[in-house]
Amino acid sequence: MSLVDNVDYEVFRRKVLELTRIDLGLYKSQQMQRRIGSLMERAGVPTFAAYGRLLERDPEELDKFSDYITINVSEFFRNPEKFDELEQKVLPELLGRSRNLNIWSAGCSNGAEIYSVAMILEDIAPRGYHRLLATDVDSMILSKALAGVYGPQDVRNVPSARLERHFKVNAEQYVISPEMRSKVQFKMHNLLADPFQSGFDLILCRNVVIYFTDEAKQDLYNKFWQSLKDDGVLFIGGTETILNARDIGFAPMSSFFYEKAPRGKEVGVG
Ligand SMILES: C[S@@+](CC[C@H](N)C(=O)[O-])C[C@H]1O[C@@H](n2cnc3c(N)ncnc32)[C@H](O)[C@@H]1O
Repeated sequence: MSLVDNVDYEVFRRKVLELTRIDLGLYKSQQMQRRIGSLMERAGVPTFAAYGRLLERDPEELDKFSDYITINVSEFFRNPEKFDELEQKVLPELLGRSRNLNIWSAGCSNGAEIYSVAMILEDIAPRGYHRLLATDVDSMILSKALAGVYGPQDVRNVPSARLERHFKVNAEQYVISPEMRSKVQFKMHNLLADPFQSGFDLILCRNVVIYFTDEAKQDLYNKFWQSLKDDGVLFIGGTETILNARDIGFAPMSSFFYEKAPRGKEVGVG
């Protein structure tokens, strides 16, 4: 990239921050620029400056842009074996400490992840007053989560008893039940900019950080540590690891589950 392009990208980055509150500087720049480049090609604009102007005047293109760069792919019970572990080991342990759980799906996309957790809790701890928070930076995907309408591909890992109990099927569309819907609070939240709540027993942040810079990831995992209760659990994605988990204060429980250990105390093997 030439110096001119760099300046152009910097101006574009500032415009995007203004329009969407998404700071492209906290995402790996090569991958981001490649993704943005393909959007620019589709929109038929040759430069970042021209694309910035287009985003400013065309709300539809702006929605398309934030949808594309944040990548919303999700499905119910994604990595089913990990959800089995969540159901059979992690949640029972957390429920042994507290009857009512406080859970956050960070980067929740269309809600499939948090609704999967809600379905499990309905089976294993139906009497608890659980609080389920689900957040995402992308307002379009949050409206999909609220609508709760899914295709056959999204629900392919949902066991049939849960499918029957929690969805209404209508012409190949699976609509989440109002009861499940009422259990989750959806909110817009930027993990790279907004303040975090605390007191969580479990935080799920899966398949969200792949385009974040190493510094942004480090900062995020530190904030998750602060947001968890002591012995709370962080559940990350199937291709992710927290390299310096012990330094942050996380004890690996098994792959993709990390338990918060008090800082300064020796944490488990991993
Ligand atoms: C691939 S989806 C993962 C959904 C779900 N966690 C799963 O694993 O199936 C990634 C989500 O992260 C969200 N995301 C990306 N950057 C974010 C940020 N800075 N703050 C909050 N959410 C973000 C995207 O909008 C997208 O919905």
